[in-house]
Amino acid sequence: MDKRFTLPIAKIVKETDSVKTFTFKHKIDAKPGQFIMLTDFEGGEKPFSISNCSADEFSVTIKRIGEFTTRLDDFCEGDLVSIRGAYGSSFFISKKKVLLVSGGYAVPTFYFLSKVLLANGADVTVVNGARSKEDLLFVKRFKKIGVKLFNATIDGSFGEKGTAVDVAGKLLKNENFDFLYSSGPDLMMKALQNICGEIDYEFCFERYMKCAIGICGNCTMDPLGLRLCVEGPVLPKEKVVQLTEFGKYHRKPSGSRVDF
Ligand SMILES: Cc1cc2nc3c(=O)[nH]c(=O)nc-3n(C[C@H](O)[C@H](O)[C@H](O)COP(=O)(O)OP(=O)(O)OC[C@H]3O[C@@H](n4cnc5c(N)ncnc54)[C@H](O)[C@@H]3O)c2cc1C
Ligand code: FES
Repeated sequence: MDKRFTLPIAKIVKETDSVKTFTFKHKIDAKPGQFIMLTDFEGGEKPFSISNCSADEFSVTIKRIGEFTTRLDDFCEGDLVSIRGAYGSSFFISKKKVLLVSGGYAVPTFYFLSKVLLANGADVTVVNGARSKEDLLFVKRFKKIGVKLFNATIDGSFGEKGTAVDVAGKLLKNENFDFLYSSGPDLMMKALQNICGEIDYEFCFERYMKCAIGICGNCTMDPLGLRLCVEGPVLPKEKVVQLTEFGKYHRKPSGSRVDF
């Protein structure tokens, strides 16, 4: 197992009522799409994608959902957590015209990806989706780094009214993109796959993870048996098209199937 680091939280930024970004002053060898495992010593260890990374610090952006993330939400700057990683596959870095489509708490990982794509000369368009204005993440940060940004809210309170996939569909009709990236709920990515035609893509998946190092088998995807913590979470089109469980079901901690 990789080395574990116990680190103080250097900075906490409140993004929305239920989302915070935690920054650590620590050099981590991470690429966009990869994740860390984090524990608060109380119980459990959970995967979180890296939302920003530089030479001497990295960040994760966490939505308060259940027991673990509610405890983290109460943490203050200086409090200690323990991390291991970074783990998993990372996104292909294109130098061409690319479209990034994401929704909800999966959006921040595309901030890290956008920065690396821009640094490599890519022409980057981001579709940032959420339920409403209050839930949209990283709008100012995306604008600051100079991507072409399209915000989509389901209730129409900010940007275009509709889902991220609705907005991506219009862009894909009117412009030619060389590569597509998506990260978010299965059903969102499935809808995107159905409208994206022949374009090459990579999708970033989430499945229940326990070990994150390929041993427990809880995160495997049918029928290829891909361990999402090792061969994923970013998967290329040639693998995604073979996934029979994509958009249909995932697995509980026990390993039993649950339909989406
Ligand atoms: C590769 C990967 C990257 C992720 N990145 C982020 C991120 O950047 N920000 C963020 O807020 N969340 C991220 N998640 C999801 C995050 O791990 C869960 O939201 C968190 O574990 C919820 O824990 P909880 O105890 O608060 O909620 P619970 O009540 O335990 O669970 C709520 C939901 O969170 C998911 N979840 C719970 N435990 C796990 C686990 N061990 N592995 C995977 N999913 C789990 C399940 O869908 C579950 O239904 C990521 C998950 C994966 C697999
Ligand atoms: S989480 Fe154990 S094999 Fe992936």
